Amino acid sequence: MKKIYAIAALGLLLYSCSSNQNTGENTDTADAVTATASSFDEPHRPQFHFTPPSGWMNDPNGMVYYKGEYHLFYQHNPDSTVWGPMHWGHAVSNDMVHWKHLPIALYPDSLGMIFSGSAVVDISNTSGLGTKVNPAMVAIFTYHNAEQERVGKNDFQTQGIAFSLDNGRSWTKYKNNPVLKNPGIRDFRDPKVSWYEAGQKWIMTLAVKDHISFYSSKNLLDWKLESDFGADVGAHGGVWECPDLFKLKVNGTNEEKWVLLVNINPGAPNGGSGTQYFIGSFDGNRFVMDPRFEAGLNAKPAIATAVNGQEGIWLDYGRDEYAGVTWANVPDSDGRRLFMGWMSNWNYANVVPTEKWRSAMTVARTLELENTPAGLRVVSQPVQELQNIYGDSYTFKEQAVSDTLTLSGNVPFTSSTFDLQLDLERLSPDGQFAVELSNNQNQKVLIGYDAARGQYYIDRRKASSNSFSDNFAGIHYAPRLATDDSFPVRLLVDVASVEFFADGGKTVMTDIFFPDEVFTKIRLIADKGQLRLTSGIIHDLKSIYASAEQK
Ligand code: FRU
Repeated sequence: MKKIYAIAALGLLLYSCSSNQNTGENTDTADAVTATASSFDEPHRPQFHFTPPSGWMNDPNGMVYYKGEYHLFYQHNPDSTVWGPMHWGHAVSNDMVHWKHLPIALYPDSLGMIFSGSAVVDISNTSGLGTKVNPAMVAIFTYHNAEQERVGKNDFQTQGIAFSLDNGRSWTKYKNNPVLKNPGIRDFRDPKVSWYEAGQKWIMTLAVKDHISFYSSKNLLDWKLESDFGADVGAHGGVWECPDLFKLKVNGTNEEKWVLLVNINPGAPNGGSGTQYFIGSFDGNRFVMDPRFEAGLNAKPAIATAVNGQEGIWLDYGRDEYAGVTWANVPDSDGRRLFMGWMSNWNYANVVPTEKWRSAMTVARTLELENTPAGLRVVSQPVQELQNIYGDSYTFKEQAVSDTLTLSGNVPFTSSTFDLQLDLERLSPDGQFAVELSNNQNQKVLIGYDAARGQYYIDRRKASSNSFSDNFAGIHYAPRLATDDSFPVRLLVDVASVEFFADGGKTVMTDIFFPDEVFTKIRLIADKGQLRLTSGIIHDLKSIYASAEQK
C-alpha cells in the first residue's frame, strides 16, 4: 500500500487543482444513480453483490442503520479504476441486497484524502452537532495527507469527523478537524466508533501499525487514549487495519463476549489481505482475551487454525474478503450483528480484468458466537434477506454419490448466479468432495474438502488464463472445525465470485474469478470413498438490476 499511497499523492495534487470540493461541504443534490440492467451488464459484473456504478472501490465504510435504511459508504476513486484520491462513495438499501447509489458523501479536502472509518447516530446529541429531535449522523474517518507524507513527515494520518442532519444525504465537515492528532506513527487509521453503554461514552477502536489503540470520548470531539492491545498476539505479517469491536452472546448460553476484528495486510493465511479476530472482554478501558480463546490461538500447532503455517484465527479464509466490519445502530429488536467486507485482495485488486469499475463487496452476513470443537468461534451466514432475490428452486433427491453428480444441465437450471445448499454425509474416513463450476471452455473453479489435509479449499488455478496477475491463481485452504461425518455446505455463486459457508458458517471462504464465459455447469465430484447427498437445494438468485426500481 505504501507504494500506491505515494503515486496517489500526485493524483491528489492534480485532482485538487480541478476540484472545487475543498470547502469540506458537500451539498450535491444530483439525483441518485438508478441502476438498470442495461448499465450493469458488463463482463464480470456481479449481479447480486454491491459494486460501484463506475470507478474504483475498496473498503466498506461508515456502515450504519438509520430510519429504515442501511447506509453503505465505501472507499472510492470516482475518476479511475485504480486506487487514488479517496472519497466516500455512498449507497442505501432497505434489505442489504438492493442498493440505491447516492452522490459521493465525502470529498478530499486540504487536510487530506478521506480514508476508512465508521459512522454513528448521535442519538443523545453528545456532540452538539445535531439536536435530540434530529440527531446527527456522524462519520469518523482518517485524513491521509499525501503531501505531508511526501515531504517525509510521520504524522500524516489524523482522525476527522463530518456530520449529516438529513439522513446522510448532505455532509458538513467539522470545523475543528482533526479531532484526533497523530502522535508520530505512520499507520494510524480506520477509526471504528461505538457507544459503550455501561460507561456512557464513545469508544474509538483504531488500527495503529501493529496493534489496536482504544480511545474514549464523551462527545465525539475530544478523545482520550484508554489502552493498547495486540502487539504481541495474533498474526503480524503486515499492518493492522480496519478494526471493529462489538459484543455478542454465545449461542445457546447467556454469556456475552466481545469480539475484536482486525484486518491485516499482508499476512493472511492464503496470502495478502485478510480478517483475523480475537474474543475476550472489554470494560470500557481494556480488551482482554478470553483464556479459552487465547489457548487455541497460542497452541502450536494451533488446533485447526494454522493454514500454510500462518497463525491467527480468521473470519474468512478465502483470498477475497478484506476490511470487513459491521453495521452500527442496528435496532435491538433486530438484534443481529451484520457484517460486510470488500471482495478483493491488495495483492491484485488494482489489476483485476474489469474495465468500467473495480471491486465488489461480499454479501451482508450475520455474525454469531458459537462453541465449536476448536473452541469459541465466530460463525458467519448470509443474511436471510437474500431470499428477496430467490428465483426458481430445485431440490436434489437423497442419493449416494460415488463419482460425479451433475447439478445443472440435466435439471433445467442454467443460471450463473445461485445459492446452492448441500447436506453431504461422508461414508468412509477418506471421503472427500468438490463442487465444480465450469463453462464451455473448460475453465473451472473447485470448492471442496481435502480429506488428507482435513481442510476445505477453493481451487481457482484454471478459472481463466489468470494472466492479469502472477499472484492470483492458486488453491486456498481453510481449517475444518467440525469433526463429524456430516458436511453441510452452502455456496453463493455470482458471475465473478464464490462465497463458501461450510458447517453452518464455522468455516468461510470467499474467492473471486474472471472466466472468459460465465460458469453455468455445476457438478458434485466425490472421489476416494463414497458420499451420500442427504438433501440439496439450489435457488436461482435474480439480478438486483432486474428492475430499475429499487426495493
Ligand atoms: C484498507 C486500507 C485502510 C485505508 C484505506 C485506504 O484496505 O488500506 O487501512 O484507510 O484502505 O483506501
